[in-house]
Amino acid sequence: MASSQQKKRILVTGGAGYIGSNTVLQLADAGYEVVVVDNLSYGRREAVDPRILRVFDLHDTEALVALFQAEPCDAVIHFAAFISVGESMKLPEIYFDNNVGASLSLFTAMLRTGVKHLVFSSTAAVYGLPESSPISEDLPYAPINPYGESKVMVEKILGWLDRAHGLRHVCLRYFNASGADPEGRAGEMHNPETHLIPLLFRAIQTGKPVDVFGDDYPTPDGTCVRDYIHVSDLAQAHILAVESLLGGAPSNKFNVGTGTGFSVLEVIRAVESVTGKQVPHRISPRRAGDPPALVADSNKLQSTLGWKPRLGELKDIVSTAWNFAQKHSK
Ligand SMILES: NC(=O)c1ccc[n+]([C@@H]2O[C@H](COP(=O)([O-])OP(=O)(O)OC[C@H]3O[C@@H](n4cnc5c(N)ncnc54)[C@H](O)[C@@H]3O)[C@@H](O)[C@H]2O)c1
Repeated sequence: MASSQQKKRILVTGGAGYIGSNTVLQLADAGYEVVVVDNLSYGRREAVDPRILRVFDLHDTEALVALFQAEPCDAVIHFAAFISVGESMKLPEIYFDNNVGASLSLFTAMLRTGVKHLVFSSTAAVYGLPESSPISEDLPYAPINPYGESKVMVEKILGWLDRAHGLRHVCLRYFNASGADPEGRAGEMHNPETHLIPLLFRAIQTGKPVDVFGDDYPTPDGTCVRDYIHVSDLAQAHILAVESLLGGAPSNKFNVGTGTGFSVLEVIRAVESVTGKQVPHRISPRRAGDPPALVADSNKLQSTLGWKPRLGELKDIVSTAWNFAQKHSK
């Protein structure tokens, strides 16, 4: 925890989005000073304290340089990106421009102003369709969509920038971010929404059945298995990563997941148990590109940074998400 005499300032890009807004709260709770850059293309203005929000696009290198000069930062946590796999298949140029081009603008501004620590939001999508699970960090890059490819490109760029300029970084490859701040201060409100738990809540609210894509996978109940990582545990991984970099640790890459997978039907049952309501759903054909199981091997993160999931139970994930959804559905 940072003491008040030596408060470190962290720039959070994409801090008005789902994972960013949760992390901003936890950074502040841990005693960090935070400044957020977000263009609000998908983020929500109300998700961030207006005193720390700077609204502009990361492509604007000069605005970033001016910000770093006015408010010197010890490290950057870089969440800002477009996140829809399906859209990236239709509009790859937009994904490469925003996820790679804007990242390069950010890194250029950091190098020009001497900011040399960065935590990058990467994804399990860098592994593509791995044949076995759990997945460890030493599997090769094998993305199967422009979204995953854009994250691979940034990871590789960061490798070269470290080599050339000493830009030390941690790439955190998240599995399925889920849940909400336990105090209900921040949570998931994507628009459009593509993530399972909010879609199950929507099915409850509208009565329209949610599609379960495939029930004939080689998994215990035939539906896809994923590793749901609570957003507060994910935020904690960012804080540990920042602390490691500020403490002099070398660049690194870590999976962030619990190591336990839950099937779609198990998540539906958990939602029904927490909410006391039936989730209308129907079995639909498999979706192209969905691997049967994606579960993280997160031993490296646990042993290197001392991270542990504290809210790894499905009921914790669902109940915090439901609490947030209830608060924001009125
Ligand atoms: N949600 C998940 O399960 C998940 C899984 C793996 C990786 N990730 C990664 O985590 C990060 C955050 O995801 P999220 O779910 O919070 O997404 P989100 O869409 O809620 O947040 C992204 C934020 O970045 C902002 N933004 C986008 N482009 C910008 C730009 N050029 N300039 C300034 N701001 C910009 C958006 O307005 C938004 O507030 C992303 O990089 C995503 O790829 C998310």
